[in-house]
Amino acid sequence: MVSFVGFSNYLLGSQIIPLQLCCADQLGRISGTTMAMGTRSRHPKSLALRCYAASHRSLTLLVWSLAALVILLNFHLLTTGTHREDLSSRAHEIHRSIVRELEEVEEEMFQVKPARSRRNPRAVRRKGEHSKPHSVVDEFLDESSAVHDMFFPETAMDPVHGGNDSMYFYHPGRVWLDTDGKPIQAHGGGVLYDEKTETYYWYGENKDGKTYKAHTKGADRVDIVGVSCYSSKDLWAWKNEGVVLRGEVKNVTHDLYKSNVLERPKVIYNDQTSKYVMWMHIDDTNYTKASVGVAVSNSPTGPFSYLYSKRPHDCESRDMTIFKDDNGKAYLIYSSEDNSELHIGELTDDYLDVTNDMRSFLIAQHREAPALFKFEGVYYMITSGCTSWAPNTALAHAATSIMGPWETLGNPCVGGNDIFRSTTFFSQSTFVVPLPGLRGSFIFMADRWNPSELRDSRYVWLPLTVGGLPDEAADYSFMFPLWPRVSIYWHRRWRLPEGWTDS
Ligand code: DGJ
Repeated sequence: MVSFVGFSNYLLGSQIIPLQLCCADQLGRISGTTMAMGTRSRHPKSLALRCYAASHRSLTLLVWSLAALVILLNFHLLTTGTHREDLSSRAHEIHRSIVRELEEVEEEMFQVKPARSRRNPRAVRRKGEHSKPHSVVDEFLDESSAVHDMFFPETAMDPVHGGNDSMYFYHPGRVWLDTDGKPIQAHGGGVLYDEKTETYYWYGENKDGKTYKAHTKGADRVDIVGVSCYSSKDLWAWKNEGVVLRGEVKNVTHDLYKSNVLERPKVIYNDQTSKYVMWMHIDDTNYTKASVGVAVSNSPTGPFSYLYSKRPHDCESRDMTIFKDDNGKAYLIYSSEDNSELHIGELTDDYLDVTNDMRSFLIAQHREAPALFKFEGVYYMITSGCTSWAPNTALAHAATSIMGPWETLGNPCVGGNDIFRSTTFFSQSTFVVPLPGLRGSFIFMADRWNPSELRDSRYVWLPLTVGGLPDEAADYSFMFPLWPRVSIYWHRRWRLPEGWTDS
């Protein structure tokens, strides 16, 4: 704003001087020409001089009036500009103080070495006494380790019985109970805000089954139960709306047959067809089908009818998300080519299929778990690396056009400690929720997977902000930040500031 006002004054100011000079110059030339013409004029010389004197006076008057007008205009712009600047900086300051608590940097200290006495005897029997974990991430994944227990505490966030002191506080990593007192089952999920019901809906994988390996070398898995839906007005207390898309228990040829894979369901609303459309990753036990599935419903709480699965653009598709833009166009973003790159393609107008237009990006970067959001006309995305259920380093990416080119900004994680930041706080991205009342603030939704007991995987919800001071050299090019900084702040306990719902 300051530079805009300054710039406009500068422009106006620069007009004043040339205008005066130009008039004076023109006058001089007119006078010269008139005098010169006078000798050749058919009018007597005295008349020409009188005319000249009169026109000179009115021109001078005109010039001074114009100059006064420009000065007045300039003054007006300056004062209203300053006023506007004052208002906007006051609004900015209020906004900053509201979001400041979200951006507090919290450090974490913890003992990496597990107390051997605390090792779970069952796991030691299963894995052998000498199967020592090697890194903090190994410790984290090892159910017999004390480090594992630290990240999967038994304490719960309970919106009903938690009491006033815990109201609205998120505790990333704790068991999160729904309003019936049961652990929320909505992994790899996403949130839809439904304008009609003015309610948030959280859809995710229901993993409430036994964890097992289909093959000795296969990933830990749970049979498909289906997609759960929870509703909330405040993004904190969630009511279970049931399983809105069920797994198939009998028909072995069905995509949703229990031994297959259904992951990362996301739902968007189609304004033209008035349908809620769900897209999800559909796979076989060994992750070789690599497809997307589509389901549809008339209501946000289902039931959803499963339509079909396909390989979009004839390409492999594993981790995926969908994104609905402000203009109603929607997109599918998916990991492809053996997870080595991401693809993006627009959906058809009814959101039930992809169009033919597709772009590859982040080629050879091996990214998955894409979570897309938009702020002030710029598209942002958080992705993870590809390390099965193990946490790894998140990256933020940005683009001015959703179809690309996409640029990588760096690791958005702030706070905790090195190992927290390099493991996305021991979690993996799944979705970013916009907060209408807090410009530039979002909720980063991630999963803290527990591969030894997938149903007990936890949720890591943290504040994400766009803007603020870039704190890494990589954010600069010739001392100018290229993109606003995307930051995800670690908090052991935090809540949304008042006013986050105002639009
Ligand atoms: C990582 C993906 O992000 C998850 O959704 C899931 O597919 C696991 N891999 C399976 O190992």
